[in-house]
Amino acid sequence: MKKILIIGATSAIAEATARIWAQRGDQLFLVARNKEKLEAIADDLRVRGCPKVETYCMDANDVEGHVAMLDAAEHLLSGLDTVLIAHGTLSDQQACQQSVELTMREITTNALSVIALLTLIANRFELQKTGTIAVISSVAGDRGRQSNYLYGSAKAMVTTFTSGLRQRLFKSGVSVVTIKPGFVDTPMTAEFKKGLLWASPETIGRIIDKAMLRKCAVVYAPWFWMWIMMIIKMIPECIFKKLSL
Ligand SMILES: NC(=O)c1ccc[n+]([C@@H]2O[C@H](COP(=O)([O-])OP(=O)(O)OC[C@H]3O[C@@H](n4cnc5c(N)ncnc54)[C@H](OP(=O)(O)O)[C@@H]3O)[C@@H](O)[C@H]2O)c1
Repeated sequence: MKKILIIGATSAIAEATARIWAQRGDQLFLVARNKEKLEAIADDLRVRGCPKVETYCMDANDVEGHVAMLDAAEHLLSGLDTVLIAHGTLSDQQACQQSVELTMREITTNALSVIALLTLIANRFELQKTGTIAVISSVAGDRGRQSNYLYGSAKAMVTTFTSGLRQRLFKSGVSVVTIKPGFVDTPMTAEFKKGLLWASPETIGRIIDKAMLRKCAVVYAPWFWMWIMMIIKMIPECIFKKLSL
């Protein structure tokens, strides 16, 4: 039985993953900013067999509240061994180009808040010499494209940070798993036209669970995004800059 902290627990991908853990009998500490959604998800997980579900309201951008949240999680679950960081916003690239304030807020939500949380969690797990930390980054972080380079650069920061953290914590027996989903059909992408490359949150949830059990390093979700991104990364800049991706 694992003691799992989920930050951004109202995300569709996080909820799908939490259902797997609930059915397995793990204990969950759910953190999100929307109290009603959070309570509804907690009730559903209890019905699905979760032996213990605690909830905590927090905006991830409230960095000063992170320590109190982690203390509460450790106290109410009598320890922690697993963390999933899932919160994020799909930034409006055009709007960000017109607003420094919005740009900074999006970078804070998608990168800085994650890094702040990881800094605290890493130190706690390093001390206890065990644990698994998974973070949802994105394929968008693999190469900046004109249509979403603000969101992509925030995710690139998360990917690079988790890469360094993984190396540091390996020596302490703590694993860090970077999840890079492609297109996933969730509220975040509700406006997009769906096609062959799209996956469900349930599929991504299963991939996250398996990757964490196997202590994988970097996982493309689904796997075929590794090949798609390999090709996109191989395109020379002199050609790439002329494309409208
Ligand atoms: N969907 C995709 O195609 C896709 C692809 C690659 C990566 N991802 C990543 O996957 C993760 C989960 O996204 P999703 O697809 O499951 O979308 P989602 O259902 O829209 O979930 C996003 C979650 O982030 C939460 N959130 C946003 N800002 C927050 C903040 N400041 N503090 C606390 N929570 C905050 C939202 O909470 P509220 O309910 O309160 O708004 C929501 O629960 C994100 O990191 C996203 O970037 C998604």
